[in-house]
Amino acid sequence: MGSIEHTPTAGRRVLFFPLPFQGHINPMFQLAALLHSRGFAVTVFHTHLNAPDASLHPDYDFIPVPDGGVPTDTPGTVQVTLERVLAVNRACEAPFRDRLADLLEDDGDGVACLVADAHLLTLLDVARGLGVPTLVLRTGSAACFRIFTAFPMLCANGYQPAEESPELAEAPVRELPPYRVRDLLSTTAAAHPVMAEAVTRILTAVAASSGLIFNTFDALEHAELAALRRDLAVPVFDVGPLHLISPPPPAAAASRTSSLLPPDRGCLEWLDAQAPASVLYVSFGSLATMSASDLVEAAWGIAGSGQPFLWVLRPGLVRGGVLPSPPPLPEGFDVATRGRGAVVAWAPQEEVLAHDAVGAFWTHCGWNSTLEAACAGVPMLCRPCFGDQMGNARYVDHVWRVGVELDAGELERGKVAAAIAAVMDSGGGENAGAGGMRRRALEMKKRAAKSVAEGGSSCFNVDKLVDHIMAL
Ligand code: UDX
Repeated sequence: MGSIEHTPTAGRRVLFFPLPFQGHINPMFQLAALLHSRGFAVTVFHTHLNAPDASLHPDYDFIPVPDGGVPTDTPGTVQVTLERVLAVNRACEAPFRDRLADLLEDDGDGVACLVADAHLLTLLDVARGLGVPTLVLRTGSAACFRIFTAFPMLCANGYQPAEESPELAEAPVRELPPYRVRDLLSTTAAAHPVMAEAVTRILTAVAASSGLIFNTFDALEHAELAALRRDLAVPVFDVGPLHLISPPPPAAAASRTSSLLPPDRGCLEWLDAQAPASVLYVSFGSLATMSASDLVEAAWGIAGSGQPFLWVLRPGLVRGGVLPSPPPLPEGFDVATRGRGAVVAWAPQEEVLAHDAVGAFWTHCGWNSTLEAACAGVPMLCRPCFGDQMGNARYVDHVWRVGVELDAGELERGKVAAAIAAVMDSGGGENAGAGGMRRRALEMKKRAAKSVAEGGSSCFNVDKLVDHIMAL
């Protein structure tokens, strides 16, 4: 960053309310750091569930909001996740109103706006009811938001809820390329009602707000952002990748500023000892889960690939596992891979992906992970689990061509090993193996860096966002 004539913001305060899940907390804190660096005072409202560590942000004010005791275990499915989102909205409504009213009484003139997660419609309504302008942060891609705006059409035309038929799953959505039916949001009839409600609430939240902020950048999603600017009545600000454009955390809090689990930094030393582009990094984010049999197949696939690997085995990753223990690996795996791998419960992911030793990323394609890999120039092996992840994988594989998607269905060790070999292979030609993928990923890395540099599209949009907030 570092443009010269910034709009003065002193004395103005921006309020933030993240959705209390890791993939939503990270971009919200990155946005808070960005606006703080532009002179705004920051107040973070938060639930008790996954509460941030206030001591890591001495410059911010924090206001806890009782959440009625939302369950703390990993939700596991999109249905349960979205039910918890609704529960957070319901439980926080009255206490948030009280706390915001108190704040306005103390410092009404200073408050410029509330930035809340797109899933927090009820709390956005509360703020507007008290006269506070609202902006919405959507933590997914612009391409995914196009599925949201198209959702009524997708339902009317019979694409949603999708039948559980492999044949239909592969069918193209003619009205919304490049998606296939299996890339859309709700693949089962059971998940459809709660997904439809979530999409309607997000669209309502955005329509009633004073602007929509995306963690993406123009060179990555130019056409998708242009389509949204055409379709939506509110201004759209693409200011990402937020992890690159926001100021780095203080050294004392490196990699921990919004991480809910302590990252195991020892794996960085282990990476230091590995050859360049030799390591497969494996992580499925904070919410995705897998079956015990998929874990066994993944393990033997990784072992069979012969590649060095760094694997994040988060407690709760395997359905039915015993918390807080990490999922057990199959007997013999240690011996089969001795000296070739490192396993951690949680990694400093941004630093891992930026490390020279990492050659590819086996990911669930959460939007943060996808962006972080794209910006680090690391090809991806995609195994999406739910929600927006299938659509993200489609873009990685088919549009940006910086990765390959594993077949849907149960994992099979032979296919896993072959897919790892394909994505790690850096000696291939233009479109074969990871040769072409790696080149395209490195080009994307350059474009991401350009977008956050002075004069870049996201840098320009941050200026516009600051002006917009000051004019609200
Ligand atoms: C979810 C959705 O999948 C995502 O698409 C949505 O937009 C936000 O919520 P999650 O499934 O956790 O998030 O994945 P992801 O979006 O990739 O976010 C995970 C975050 O945790 C990333 O910022 C990643 O860097 C971080 N992480 C993950 C670590 O710091 N260490 C790890 O070991 C694993």
